[in-house]
Amino acid sequence: MAVLNVNIDHVATIRQARRTDEPDPVWAAVECELAGANGITVHLRQDRRHINDRDVRVLKESVACKLNLEMSMAEPIVKIAEQIGPNQVTLVPEKREELTTEGGLDCATHQRRLREVVRRMHRKGILVSAFITPEEEQIAVSAETGCDAIELHTGGYANARTDRAIEKHLDELEAGRDLAAGRGLVVHAGHGLTYRNIAAVARIEGLSEFNIGHSIVSRAVLVGMRAATRQMIELIEKCADHADL
Ligand code: PXP
Repeated sequence: MAVLNVNIDHVATIRQARRTDEPDPVWAAVECELAGANGITVHLRQDRRHINDRDVRVLKESVACKLNLEMSMAEPIVKIAEQIGPNQVTLVPEKREELTTEGGLDCATHQRRLREVVRRMHRKGILVSAFITPEEEQIAVSAETGCDAIELHTGGYANARTDRAIEKHLDELEAGRDLAAGRGLVVHAGHGLTYRNIAAVARIEGLSEFNIGHSIVSRAVLVGMRAATRQMIELIEKCADHADL
């Protein structure tokens, strides 16, 4: 059954709306951990639009659970990861104009750089996951370059509006999981997952981590971070227990 990493970027988004010091994403992380989250995920973007360098440093000092740093392969960010040493990095593509990470990482095109970043992270004892769409070539290159895991992009599933389209995306995720598992990769999933659409993905066997952000932070505004995290964990556990339904 997959465990939950809560992506707390949008706690920092609220802080940055006023360029002040509240709410502190570090406080939010503690609440997620108290609710039983497996890990905390943050994306240190090059434009620092939400999470900043201090957040990553203080999170590393504060949270006992897994710290998963989402990041591009831009050199200044790679250096920060080497210095701070999160437990895991998830490599993502990054465009300045996007609202959120749009596509998966093109591992095939950036093969040389990916191999180098993987080597540097491993030297620091950091696990590497590549955020990719469930395509055979991307999975193959992730494995060949030494990644430990892949995060399957669930955005297509989340955006699908017809039963047929939803089924197609779920089939692709399962096929991606099989290809990745066959190459010895650990399989994560994330992007666009919500309280409403998590069930079908939570029923997929063989996924080990979910990274979920916007939906949990949105609910947390109304019910609190600890309750919102707890509710998502309970949903994942309930659906995984009823995988045959
Ligand atoms: N996984 C990755 C690689 C992401 O880039 C994001 C968005 O930061 C997420 C998961 C979480 O997506 P959401 O906020 O839609 O839950």
